[in-house]
Amino acid sequence: MTIRLMHVSDVHAGPPFAAEVAAVVLREAQTYAPDVFVVSGDFVQRADENAQWQTITSWLAQTPQPRFVVPGNHDVPLYNVWDRLFNPYKQYTTHISSDLMPVMHLAGVSLIGANTAFGWTIDGGYLSPVQQAHIRSAAASVPAGNRRVVVMHHHLVNPPGVGRRNRVANPEAIATLLDECQIDVVMCGHIHVSYIGHTRDLVPTLPRGTIICQAGTATSHRGKGRERHTCAFNTIEISDSLLVIRRHVYDSRCQQFVVHVEHHEELQA
Ligand SMILES: [Fe+2]
Ligand SMILES: [Fe+2]
Repeated sequence: MTIRLMHVSDVHAGPPFAAEVAAVVLREAQTYAPDVFVVSGDFVQRADENAQWQTITSWLAQTPQPRFVVPGNHDVPLYNVWDRLFNPYKQYTTHISSDLMPVMHLAGVSLIGANTAFGWTIDGGYLSPVQQAHIRSAAASVPAGNRRVVVMHHHLVNPPGVGRRNRVANPEAIATLLDECQIDVVMCGHIHVSYIGHTRDLVPTLPRGTIICQAGTATSHRGKGRERHTCAFNTIEISDSLLVIRRHVYDSRCQQFVVHVEHHEELQA
């Protein structure tokens, strides 16, 4: 059995939103018809702006179900300091999902969502002890034989050429946590450039390691590094022992997404 995921991130409704590209992403999603449509945060550019939530809920409603979503740092208000500090997920839970720690078990694959966005930082991400305990307990509930995927907004690795963006705090400790929970794949966003790697890039001594799949920005003008001025998303196919990641990059000349990278990796027994 093969499970097919479509992974988009950093859709950023608001001034950076590329509506024409967002329409193409919808067409791609409807054609691909994934088993799960995954969004790893930053639904809006500015969570204080109600109109941006309206834009993105209208777009999200046209994406395939089931959906698996987690919040990003931009989904927390910036200007409304009271909400930012004391009710940071009010807009997200109102408009996107009431579940900040989703877990989904499919036949063959389990998805565990973690929230790295907080009100007291603007850009940085953090997996609190509560979030870490959630990953551990959700991993313990995974049916025997299922592959394990964690979805969170902030990234673990800064690829070359994009400068030092704020990764999730203590990325080496998080890589160790993922290893202890036997997570096969971690899917992230935030950095606005695609990257495929491995937690052993961070901590070479990990006994198992986790494949890192970071998505670029699917629908905004905020692409970074080699994906500056363009958009990208990933499709991920997971079978018993093989992972296939395809990176789809928008080509404005033909107004389509084109597969630039096809990455095959054997999964640990
Ligand atoms: Fe973003
Ligand atoms: Fe972000």
